[in-house]
Amino acid sequence: MNILILGGGGREHALAWAVLQNPKCDRLIVAPGNAGIAGIAETASLAIDDPQAVVEFAGENAVDFVVIGPEAPLAAGVGDALRRAGVSVFGPNADAAMVETSKSFTKELCDACGAPTAAYGRFTQASPALDYVRAQGAPIVVKADGLAAGKGVIVAETVDQAIDAVRDIFDGQFGDAGAAVVIEEFMQGEEASFFVLVDGTDVLPIGTAQDHKRIGEGDTGPNTGGMGAYSPAPIMDAAVTEAALEQIVRPCVAELARRGTPYSGVLYVGLMIQDGQPRLVEFNARFGDPECQALMIRLGAQALDLMQACAEGRLADARVNWADDHAMTVVMAAEGYPGDYAKGSVIGGLEQLLATSSQVVFHAGTALKDGKLVANGGRVLSVTARGDDLRQARERVYAMVDAVDWPEGVFRRDIGWRALK
Ligand code: AMP
Ligand code: GLY
Repeated sequence: MNILILGGGGREHALAWAVLQNPKCDRLIVAPGNAGIAGIAETASLAIDDPQAVVEFAGENAVDFVVIGPEAPLAAGVGDALRRAGVSVFGPNADAAMVETSKSFTKELCDACGAPTAAYGRFTQASPALDYVRAQGAPIVVKADGLAAGKGVIVAETVDQAIDAVRDIFDGQFGDAGAAVVIEEFMQGEEASFFVLVDGTDVLPIGTAQDHKRIGEGDTGPNTGGMGAYSPAPIMDAAVTEAALEQIVRPCVAELARRGTPYSGVLYVGLMIQDGQPRLVEFNARFGDPECQALMIRLGAQALDLMQACAEGRLADARVNWADDHAMTVVMAAEGYPGDYAKGSVIGGLEQLLATSSQVVFHAGTALKDGKLVANGGRVLSVTARGDDLRQARERVYAMVDAVDWPEGVFRRDIGWRALK
C-alpha cells in the first residue's frame, strides 16, 4: 500500500514512525515532512492546503491512503476533494471539521444534543459582548470564534482583562478568526484529552493524554502549542471515560450524522473534569501535538490498521490491542519560543539515541544545513519514551533529553508532575 501523510511536525513524524512498523505499508511519502522524517520516509514538497494539488499528487504517485495531520488542510477541504476523487482518507470533510474551525459551531452542537459544556454567549459586536462580560464577572474565558493557531483563547482573571481581550479580538488581532467572539463560563477542574476514532456512526476510543500548554515549569508563563504530554491520563478512569463517551462523544457524533455532515477521522475531545463529571472544553479535528507522539509509541503498527478501519467505515469490528504501558513526550523548543526565537543552532547527540520500540526522538522543527541538523522552528524535538509505568517512562525520556547536545534548546523538567505527585 502507498501512503501519503500530510504535515511536517512531531505529530507527523510519530504517525510516519507508526505506519512504517506495519508491513502493509510499501511506500510512505510525507509532505512536506522535516529532517527527521526524511531519515525514515520519502518527503515531498507539496501545497498541502490546496485540495486540487493534493488530489493530483495522490494520483501521480498511486497513493492508496492519505492521512491528514494538521487542521489547515481539513479546513481547506482536502478531505472532501480526496473522497470525491475516490482516494481513501483519514481526516474529516471541512463541514465536519467545523467542530474545530468554529468554536460557536461546537457550542451550538452541544446545545442541540445536550452535551455538557461551559455556558456561553456569541457576539459579532463589541458593545453587547462587553455588557455580557460585565454582567457575568470574572474569571471568564474569551475566544476568537475561528482558527487562530491555538492562540485565540484568553482566560481572563479580571473583568478588565476580559474587556481588553474582547476589544483586541474585534480590533483584528486574530484577523478573520475574530469576526465573532465566544465568551464562556470559566470551568474549574482538571483537563484531559480523549482521542476517539469516528467513522460517521461508530466510535472507538484509542487513548487518553494530558499535555502541558504553558512554557514554564509549574504550568506558568505564556501558552504554547504544548511542551510535553503523557498517556494515559490517570484522571480518565473507566467511569469518566464512559461518561465522556455517552454524554459528549456519541451525542455529538450522532447529531453531525443527522445533519448530513458525518464525522470521519480522529476526534480530539478536550475535557474539563470536576468531581468525576467531564465537560467539553473543545473538539479538534486531528491528533494533538505532542499528544500524538505519546499515543503512537504506545499503539505502534496497529495505528495504521485502526486509521484504515476508520476511513473505510469498519470501526464496529475494530479493536485496540492495549498494552499496560505508559508514554511521555518532552518537547525541546528554541530559546524564546513561544515568542521570537532564532533558527539555525546546531543539534548534536541524536546519533546515540537510536529509535527503538520504547524510545524515539521525533523531529518537529528541524532541517539539514551543510550536513548538520539545525533548529528550524519553535518546537524542535519531541523526545518520547515508553515504560511499564509513568515513572519509568519519565526516567527514560529525561535520560534521552540529557543526551541531546543542544545548548540553545529549552524544555520543562516537570512533565507529568500532576500524575506523579
Ligand atoms: P481551547 O483552545 O478552546 O482548548 O482553549 C485553550 C485552553 O484554554 C484550554 O486547554 C483550557 O486550558 C483553557 N480553557 C478554554 N476554555 C475554558 C473554559 N471554558 N474554562 C476554563 N478553561 C478554559
Ligand atoms: N497540544 C494541543 C493541540 O494539539 O491542540
